[in-house]
Amino acid sequence: MATPSSFYHDSAEYLRVRLGGFKPEILLILGSGLGFMAEKLENARYIPYNEIPRFKNSTAPGHKGRLAAGTLAGKRVLAMQGRVHVYEGYTPEEVAFPVRVANLLGADKLLVTCASGGVNTAYSPGDLALLTDIVNLTHTGPLVGFDISDFDVRFFDMSHVFSRRARKVAGEIAREQNIPLREGVYFYMPGPQFETPAEIRAIRALGGDLVGMSTVHECIMAKRCGMEVLGVALVSNMAAGVLDQPLSEGEVLVEAEKAAGRFSELVTAVAEKW
Ligand code: HPA
Repeated sequence: MATPSSFYHDSAEYLRVRLGGFKPEILLILGSGLGFMAEKLENARYIPYNEIPRFKNSTAPGHKGRLAAGTLAGKRVLAMQGRVHVYEGYTPEEVAFPVRVANLLGADKLLVTCASGGVNTAYSPGDLALLTDIVNLTHTGPLVGFDISDFDVRFFDMSHVFSRRARKVAGEIAREQNIPLREGVYFYMPGPQFETPAEIRAIRALGGDLVGMSTVHECIMAKRCGMEVLGVALVSNMAAGVLDQPLSEGEVLVEAEKAAGRFSELVTAVAEKW
């Protein structure tokens, strides 16, 4: 069942009042181990998800589960310090819910970040990568059953999910600041189990460079809302079967900590120049 449109407006209205009319320019979604970035906002106010009507609570490791509102490099940013996932038992629409709420508050840009497995064997753990496109073969998404009376059309274009302009800006920043930056296609798998080596070979054959358990539903919702989107993935581990070693939850957080400096420089400069 689709979420009534009033739910989105209720949440937006609650935040508008609680944040004294704060009008974000950018929604920054912070993935596993990357939530520290929310603490870099200036004049930040923090609101736990469980105090916001209709928001779902994060249960994943490294996801604090609160919203931060403040400024980053002079831009008004709403940051999600952790997100929710389908593997926690939420629907794709619930996962993507905050994106439309942020858009109702005024955000017309989404900077979405995530930890991911490296499918492309040229990548290494610790690499940062710009997302060039997404693949969702799960046969479901955040707009299935959506209340279309809110929008002019049901079918909409996904030719350029990630803003070419924003990718160019991010690429230039990376070159100027000597931050190695990959580019690749993000392939969504619902988890919570990591993939099998055969799944990773299949993903590679289908054109995936990165694999992860988040991001796509948020991007689809953002495009539905007409937002400009930029995606940055941290390669926290090589995907299953690439190296002869088991995958663990722990390495995701370890690599995020090691990449924190580069990630923070890139995200801050993107906020400034986008
Ligand atoms: N697979 C899926 N999601 C992930 C991975 C992975 O290897 N690493 C971090 N998130």
